[in-house]
Amino acid sequence: MKSRTSKYDSISLSKTFLPHALHLLLPIVLLPIVLLCLYLYPLYHTKSQTNELHYATVSPPPPPYSVNDIHKVDDPSCDYFNGKWIHDKTGPLYNGTTCVTIKESQNCITNGRPDSNYLYYRWNPTQCNLPRFEPNTFLQLSKNKHISFVGDSLARNQFESLLCMLSSLSKPKPVHHKGSHWWHFESHNATLSVYWSPFLVQGDARSKLGPSLNTIHLDRVNGKWEKDMDGMDLVVLSFGNWFNVPSIYYEKGLVIGCLNCSSYGLNYTDIGFYVPLRKALRKSLNRIIERRVGKRNEIGVIVRTFSPSHFDGDWDKSGTCSKKEPYENGEKEIGEMESEIRRVEIEEVENAKVKAREFGGVRFEVLDVTQLALLRPDGHPGAYMNPFPFKNGVPERVQNDCVHWCLPGAIDTWNEIFLEMMKKWELEGQQWSEL
Ligand SMILES: *[C@@H]1O[C@H](CO)[C@@H](O)[C@H](O)[C@H]1NC(C)=O
Ligand SMILES: *[C@@H]1O[C@H](CO)[C@@H](O)[C@H](O)[C@H]1NC(C)=O
Ligand SMILES: *[C@@H]1O[C@H](CO)[C@@H](O)[C@H](O)[C@H]1NC(C)=O
Ligand SMILES: *[C@@H]1O[C@H](CO)[C@@H](O)[C@H](O)[C@H]1NC(C)=O
Repeated sequence: MKSRTSKYDSISLSKTFLPHALHLLLPIVLLPIVLLCLYLYPLYHTKSQTNELHYATVSPPPPPYSVNDIHKVDDPSCDYFNGKWIHDKTGPLYNGTTCVTIKESQNCITNGRPDSNYLYYRWNPTQCNLPRFEPNTFLQLSKNKHISFVGDSLARNQFESLLCMLSSLSKPKPVHHKGSHWWHFESHNATLSVYWSPFLVQGDARSKLGPSLNTIHLDRVNGKWEKDMDGMDLVVLSFGNWFNVPSIYYEKGLVIGCLNCSSYGLNYTDIGFYVPLRKALRKSLNRIIERRVGKRNEIGVIVRTFSPSHFDGDWDKSGTCSKKEPYENGEKEIGEMESEIRRVEIEEVENAKVKAREFGGVRFEVLDVTQLALLRPDGHPGAYMNPFPFKNGVPERVQNDCVHWCLPGAIDTWNEIFLEMMKKWELEGQQWSEL
């Protein structure tokens, strides 16, 4: 994969974000207070450990977070997405005992996955150092904020990785919210949420019991997250995998084409799914930009690029993902589809950056996980999506998940890079205040 060019660097990003008068003034007034608070703020509330979820006791939190840590972003323009996986004996921040919110089908250790080598790798970017995830720093930067993950089940996968890593420091409480899952960290008044919206726009995913094709309305953002958009400070859009299945596409209520619908006896033009995916993302990003006009708070938008799956065979023909080690660089070529989806996603974020320049108030970044995820065929649950799949010997047909990621596991890295983006934004905010 080619290295990312200077158009991704922080300089152009801050130019894109010429601060409003408000952004200039507020930090000048608030910075000294913020600095003071960062030193004095209580690190964790022992009280919250008594909540009804009965978390297991965890090891004590790391040493106090200092504002100087923010300046440790070695190189704010670092390309975190080119690098290699290297052995690291440190191991994960959590496990299925210390974190109770892991979805059963991703709780590989508890489901009896016998090998643990996959837990001892660290992503090592070529240009700089990627620090280990610091829950304390993340929560400090999320103070009084609402961070949302919107998308498919991989959005939830990444969200749950984050929730587990943060839970190692501070226990969140579930918050009832119709149509999405919210968790609140009382210690920092930080809220994390996840919205199921696999197309970002309005649509119904095909299902075993329901329709056998997706129906997707490319001209309407999914109302479930759209209605809550104004209250979000940071949103991670995480989607893609649901586009590659038979679908019918609508605009203004009329069919504009389909994907593979002839096998369902429908006579619409097959337009593939790259154009619909591009339209759905563009619609969503435009909607975020439009809704910020006249709003005072800023929103950060991160688009997570396509996460490749690793079925040795076809996913619907009992394919498995049996590799126990990461690929070496160059060992695995990216597929045409993965590469094309990633390209569409990056292009649309670039377009949105240009558009946002007119309005201000929105920052965009790409969380380009495609290459680093491609190199981790060992990171999926495989047969261990179910508890002890081989307890009665090897069945004739074993269901395998080679799409989602074991928790803990390789997906934790996505959140390490996410945190570096947050640090970079914070640092830029401080630089503005020094202008
Ligand atoms: C989970 O982590 C805790 C604390 O580090 C440790 O005591 C425990 O043995 C671990 N459990 C498993 C199943 O690895
Ligand atoms: C807590 O955070 C929310 C945003 O998620 C904010 O609206 C609210 O004012 C904050 N509460 C306090 C007491 O700062
Ligand atoms: C479309 O259908 C054909 C035949 O059923 C199949 O080979 C192909 O993989 C399908 N394409 C997609 C994108 O689903
Ligand atoms: C499909 O639609 C086209 C154009 O509307 C038409 O010419 C063709 O006969 C139709 N095919 C079938 C099998 O209905």
